[in-house]
Amino acid sequence: MTYAGVLARYRAWMDIPAHTADITLLEGNTPLIPVPRLAEEMGGGFELYIKFEGLNPTGSFKDRGMTVAISEAAGRGARAVICASTGNTAASAAAYASRAGMRAIVIIPEGKVAAGKLAGATAYGAEVIQISGSFDDALSLVVEISRRHPVALVNSLNPYRLEGQKTAAFEIIETLGAAPDWLCLPVGNAGNISAYWMGFTQHHAAQQSGLPHILGVQAAGSAPLVLGHPVDHPETIATAIRIGRPARGEQALQAAEESQGRILAVSDDEILFAQRRLAASGVWVEPASAAGIAGMFAEIRAGRMQPKGQRIVAVCTGHGMKDPDIIARQMPAPRLLPVELRALEDAVLEEK
Ligand code: F0G
Repeated sequence: MTYAGVLARYRAWMDIPAHTADITLLEGNTPLIPVPRLAEEMGGGFELYIKFEGLNPTGSFKDRGMTVAISEAAGRGARAVICASTGNTAASAAAYASRAGMRAIVIIPEGKVAAGKLAGATAYGAEVIQISGSFDDALSLVVEISRRHPVALVNSLNPYRLEGQKTAAFEIIETLGAAPDWLCLPVGNAGNISAYWMGFTQHHAAQQSGLPHILGVQAAGSAPLVLGHPVDHPETIATAIRIGRPARGEQALQAAEESQGRILAVSDDEILFAQRRLAASGVWVEPASAAGIAGMFAEIRAGRMQPKGQRIVAVCTGHGMKDPDIIARQMPAPRLLPVELRALEDAVLEEK
């Protein structure tokens, strides 16, 4: 059967109204990529996979949830959607809204959205507004606007976003034949960790597929769930998860606790290191997306995670092309040579 997107594939597993339309870009069905060399670097003796969500249509996992949220809104006749975003939600909302013939209004924190995300939102035709504040400020404003006006909120406070995002857990189970032992993923506004836990528990209740321990990873400068209190001025190079008041924080803590996992924080340097190690296995992800692997590295190194004999899945939420500047800042520009065979030969033969 031809693949037709997460709604077509998993509608029977979703708690959604009958009026829900089917606005799709054939999102989902992303690969679970084995990265044995990376597992060896961590001592080996275990299976490590990347669920590469950067291969969704707009380059991030948001598409799984957005297809459902926009389909629901379109099905009840909504004409406009709104969201606050660190960038990926904005691009995804813009793409699905344009497909549905709706307006998309996206509110972003000034100067803190990676180039590929802003370009995406603009290209898909969103009305992009920056505010001189944080993601958290933007979220409280859009919640208020959606209360007062007929504009559908498509942040992950919208329950249909989670109904779509939980399908990634189903795909992992189907590929591996059971749930993995550990699932490691970045945590920002905490919708995705909540969605995965919903997916795994729902599937386990129906088919005894097992439950993973969940390792949620925040950036040290934006780690309210680790600190136990909101962070007023979150900072991190992983701008996707630069969030100080996660809307679904309680649910995330519950997922970590129920799964006998945990939520921890890693430094920006650890995130960038993990991004480079992943790229050395051929998987280029945006910084926030490397946080899950960075957290796993930290836990293994500290002896708090014993990976031997385990199956570990790290969710890489967004593509590296979303944030090209972060690479440009760390790497030298390509060298420039004259059009001369000899000079090029010398460069090619030079040992690095
Ligand atoms: N990874 C990426 C690439 C993200 O864009 C986000 C969230 C997360 C992880 C964290 O997911 O919020 O469900 O805990 N990005 C949102 C946005 C906030 O606006 O695009 P979460």
